[in-house]
Amino acid sequence: MKLTYWGHSSFLVETASHRIVIDPFLSGNEQAVVSPAEVECDCVIVTHGHPDHVGDSVEIAKRTGATVVANFELASFLEAQGATVHPMHIGGAHAFPFGRVKLTIAHHGSGHPDESGRIQYTGNPAGVLLTADNKTFYHAGDTGLFLDMQLIGELDRIDVAALPIGDNFTMGPADAARAVEFLKPGMALPMHYGTWEIIAVDPQDFAQRVEAAGFKAAVPAIGESVEV
Ligand code: NI
Ligand code: MN
Repeated sequence: MKLTYWGHSSFLVETASHRIVIDPFLSGNEQAVVSPAEVECDCVIVTHGHPDHVGDSVEIAKRTGATVVANFELASFLEAQGATVHPMHIGGAHAFPFGRVKLTIAHHGSGHPDESGRIQYTGNPAGVLLTADNKTFYHAGDTGLFLDMQLIGELDRIDVAALPIGDNFTMGPADAARAVEFLKPGMALPMHYGTWEIIAVDPQDFAQRVEAAGFKAAVPAIGESVEV
């Protein structure tokens, strides 16, 4: 499994046979190095309805024919915009042609402004466990720290975990490092930081805390890949 960090909370996951994109916030992200028009993938997984996670999902899905996987309410919202969707919900897993996806809890909000600017409810936010090629990637979505991460780490052997560290909207570096102790992944990656001033934290602060706790951390640059 190869993971490429596309900035903010977006990752391209390449398995032996498929390409899966998570939270493709590209055209709205000044730091993005990939444009939505050049994305090729089989599936788009969206953790929650905030615009910095839905991003270019609908455009990518329509152009490539990729299925959008999201919680039921968000899937319905995106389906109404023309995407082909596969609705799921928290605690549920499904075997897709590319691997298994299970949605986990995340403590956050989830809503998306409609054309009038009014926030539409898009269901509970989620994290994602993606298992393919005998590797498991946990993408925590946007969330605060929660003790049930211990259970998530017990139920699945996590090879790599991507955790939000930017503070303000999600965990900060110290809480995210504590999350690593709960999850016990083979490797931890920071995400959801540096995109804007309000979430400008030092990813090395996170990496040092993770390593001090006895776990591995990597800080991929935007566009950089990590082989799992
Ligand atoms: Ni969010
Ligand atoms: Mn966010």
